[in-house]
Amino acid sequence: MIPVNQPYLGKEELKNVIQCVKSGWISSKGQFIKRFEEEFAEYCGMKYGISVTSGTTALHLALLSLGIKEGDEVILPTFTMVASAYAVLYTGARPVFVDSEERTWNMDCAKIEEAITKRTKAIMPVHIYGHPVDMDSVMRLAKKYKLYVVEDAAEAHGSEYKGRKCGSFGDFGCFSFYANKIITTGEGGMVVTNNKKLAERAELLKDLSHSPGKRFLHTDLGYNYRMTNMQAAVGLGQLHKIKSFISKKRQMASQYSEELKVVPGLRFPFEEDWAKSVYWMYSILIEDSFGLTRDESRDKLHSQGIETRTFFVPMHQQPVIRKLCPEANRKKYPVADYIAQKGLYLPSGLAITKGEIHRVCNVIKKIKKSI
Ligand SMILES: Cc1ncc(COP(=O)(O)O)c(C=O)c1O
Repeated sequence: MIPVNQPYLGKEELKNVIQCVKSGWISSKGQFIKRFEEEFAEYCGMKYGISVTSGTTALHLALLSLGIKEGDEVILPTFTMVASAYAVLYTGARPVFVDSEERTWNMDCAKIEEAITKRTKAIMPVHIYGHPVDMDSVMRLAKKYKLYVVEDAAEAHGSEYKGRKCGSFGDFGCFSFYANKIITTGEGGMVVTNNKKLAERAELLKDLSHSPGKRFLHTDLGYNYRMTNMQAAVGLGQLHKIKSFISKKRQMASQYSEELKVVPGLRFPFEEDWAKSVYWMYSILIEDSFGLTRDESRDKLHSQGIETRTFFVPMHQQPVIRKLCPEANRKKYPVADYIAQKGLYLPSGLAITKGEIHRVCNVIKKIKKSI
């Protein structure tokens, strides 16, 4: 089976983890945490990095640090992974969803303004599958209506909007280091910011809100979102390879697009002129003219030993969201519905070989011929 994802872990990661085990620094103190936070923030072009346990907790921590709470609204795309919406719900605020745009599948920035109300406190752009959101539009609206911006860059380490890194535009940029991400710590995440006060607030909240200067005295509700030194040890080794990882992802995308361009009925990921996508996952739409549905194609690929994943189910279709935010279901999101129904991502892990990509493309060509 060619897996949909397989991380690439190297010698530096192993050496660093061995050092943690030998030295006994296995919890959330230790040299790797600080180094990973500093180097990752610097990589993003930001002053402060605060490591956490996951991308989900990174988003939650960012919203908490900004004081987002019950009665507030946060605008985000309906086409995203559920963690983006969960993070809003954890704070007691209400997620307000906007539809996607046709080309990049990101939130349609032309639809943000109509979603703004007196209760809106923040916009959460999600850089879907590693393609940047049109951040000029987001930042213009945020300035006009005095809104916070929390970027969900869980899939977009190193992606660039007009030459600037995703995650560096908003009050906070949030990243995931789950095993299928551009760099991994197994499980893990990070928030980055340029605002010292927000960084201090996030540091406090992520470590149970011990009062500064008086440990074990707590005036605020805190959380244990601490990353371990062992995770940071892996993350640091991964970070040192990020340039080659991104160039591998981009090469993989161009090989897929080149080999598959002769197959009618497929729509390929689009890269805007102003964007550098990291193609976190190589994602395609199987359109009606292909002759098989997305799910039929997926079954055929599976029977030939090729693992794939369907696109996210949009938030307005999620039973949990419909239960908690019934108003989300009253609006229409036709673009998100379309891409969610047609979208499939192909094996895209960092450990994949050119030969394996070639095989996937040949199987797709054969399936098309046999219809
Ligand atoms: C867009 C998006 N946001 C948030 C997350 C949550 O990250 P984690 O799984 O590390 O909690 C993910 C994870 O896949 C994601 O794709």
